Order: sequence, then structure tokens, then C-alpha cells
Amino acid sequence: GTGKFFVGGNWKCNGTKDSISKLVADLNGGKMESDVDVVVAPPFVYIDQVKNSLTDRIEISAQNCWVGKGGAFTGEISAEQLIDMGCQWVILGHSERRHIIGEADKFIGKKAAYALSQNLKVIACIGEKLEEREAGKTFDVCFQQMKAFADSITSWEDVVIAYEPVWAIGTGKVATPEQAQEVHGAVRDWLKKNISEEVASSTRIIYGGSVNGSNCSELAKQEDIDGFLVGGASLKGPEFGTIVNSV
Ligand code: G3H
Repeated sequence: GTGKFFVGGNWKCNGTKDSISKLVADLNGGKMESDVDVVVAPPFVYIDQVKNSLTDRIEISAQNCWVGKGGAFTGEISAEQLIDMGCQWVILGHSERRHIIGEADKFIGKKAAYALSQNLKVIACIGEKLEEREAGKTFDVCFQQMKAFADSITSWEDVVIAYEPVWAIGTGKVATPEQAQEVHGAVRDWLKKNISEEVASSTRIIYGGSVNGSNCSELAKQEDIDGFLVGGASLKGPEFGTIVNSV
């Protein structure tokens, strides 16, 4: 692995004030290895509640943000506002935003550049759909998504890359450790060839897609898997704790 192990919990569009207060209590009471970066991403409307109740040991991420400075953009949330609320991170390019909402590579790249300019750290998501994998296009798709980030950003220092094969997200069909390692290794190679040796060896590449308390430790053993982005299992405090401590 590269750098500090990183585990993010993406709560997606789930939770109520009540369920989130229980989840926060579980997280506050759980034991977490000290050499792991832990981040949770609540829905926007609960960020303040989480910020005010969650231990500082865990950092907070948004799940999306606007592409530039705030203003007349109804329904959007700006990077400045996320910083104001105490967020340190933002997830950008998640497959649900790419494929359900229709966000394009270039737009996502611009979001990343703007968020970084405001000192938000970025969890930059990439990953292929099932038909793309079956057509042998996994690397092409991932590299194209990587290039869109690379075309817009100037520093990778505050970026974590999340490889999330779309067919593994929320399906219970986790990538095998070999499948995940193959893509993580290829992405690191891409960074080496297209950015620099230094960025390739210092940038964390985390895996997401049906990670749970039972499959995390085999995945964590892979050379180029530097952590996880967890969806469903991050809504259960004790199981999330198991994943955090899997390395
Ligand atoms: O951001 C998290 C990923 O989309 C994974 O979700 O763990 O529910 O498959 P999942």
C-alpha cells in the first residue's frame, strides 16, 4: 500500500436525524486503529449535525459540490459553503452522479479543480460499467476518467482516487482481490506515465463496491489497494469499524 490507509463511508441519500445520531454514537464509541484516515460523507442536510456530534478523529466529506463559486445556482452547494460547515473532503465523480444524474468527465474535472482551489480535499471516483468490462474496455474507461481529472487539476497532493466498478456498487458482487488489484495497478502505472513517479507512489487508490466486514481484509492485502470507499456497510457502525481496522 501507499501512504496511510484510508477508509471513507459514503452514506449516500440515507438517514434521518435519529438514525444518524445512533450511527454517530456507534462511531464515537468504536475503536479505530490510529494509522488509518477515516472519513464519513453524510447527506448535505445532516453535515452540521454530524460535525457537531462526531469525534474529530473522523473527518467529514460532502458527496458532491458545485463546479465553481456560489451564486445564482438553485439547489447547489458550493465548496466555500462546505468549508464553512467544517467539511474537509468532497466526493466527486461518483458513478451515481455520472450515470444517474449525467455528470460528464470534463464537468467533474472542473469540480475537482475548483474544490481543491478552496482547500477541500477530493475523493475522485472512477470505474467502468459491466458492459464496458465485458467489452474489454475497463482500462480505457478508467484512464479516460483519470485524464479528465488530470486535465483540470494541477496538484494531486489532496486527492484520493476511488476505483469503483459500477457493477460492484450496491450489488453484493464485490470485485475479487485480483480484479481490483489489476485495475489499481494499472491506474498507478497511468499516474507514473502521465503525471510523475512521485505522484504515482504517493497517491492513494482506494476500492469501492460491495465492501463489507467479511471481504475487506483480503482486499486490503493487495499491493495497490490503499483503502476503501464503503457505501451500504458504512451505515452500520460496528461493521464500518471492522473495515476501518482491516489493514
Ligand atoms: O461510494 C461507495 C460505493 O458506491 C460503494 O457502495 O458499498 O454500497 O457497494 P456499496
